[in-house]
Amino acid sequence: MLQRMAWSCVPSPSFSAARLGEVIALARISNHRNHVSGRLLFTGAHILEIVEGEARDLDELWSRVNSDTRHEDVIRLGDEPCGERWYPEWMIGYADDTQVCDDMEALRSAHPGHDSAWANTTRSIMRRADSM
Ligand SMILES: Cc1cc2nc3c(=O)[nH]c(=O)nc-3n(C[C@H](O)[C@H](O)[C@H](O)COP(=O)(O)O)c2cc1C
Repeated sequence: MLQRMAWSCVPSPSFSAARLGEVIALARISNHRNHVSGRLLFTGAHILEIVEGEARDLDELWSRVNSDTRHEDVIRLGDEPCGERWYPEWMIGYADDTQVCDDMEALRSAHPGHDSAWANTTRSIMRRADSM
């Protein structure tokens, strides 16, 4: 069954832009292999990721991401079955404007699972990001 899931995290103090590059390069390969698509957004302060794929693949991805020490305060924002993908490919975005940062803070503090509109809120934040 096709599933959608989103999480957000704070890069750990040792996490540099170069390390983000490492994460992205490997994640791109692994996601492609597992038919996982979506968007990863970096704001400088937070990372927001939304992914779509088979439920089993997303569960495995979540357990790897959740035990990754390169980031902190990892919050699973929500997951839901989805009939079709919003994001046919996995891509990276960047945005650091005040509106995106405020929306990200609001989404993170509504956790756990209290923002029933998490998917649409995440999608609208992603819309404001520039694709890289
Ligand atoms: C912010 C962040 C986002 C990540 N996103 C993905 C992702 O989309 N797909 C993925 O396979 N790994 C992603 N990773 C990497 C995983 O946490 C993990 O290191 C990787 O899947 C390899 O796991 P393994 O060493 O247990 O095989 C991400 C890591 C971080 C810090």
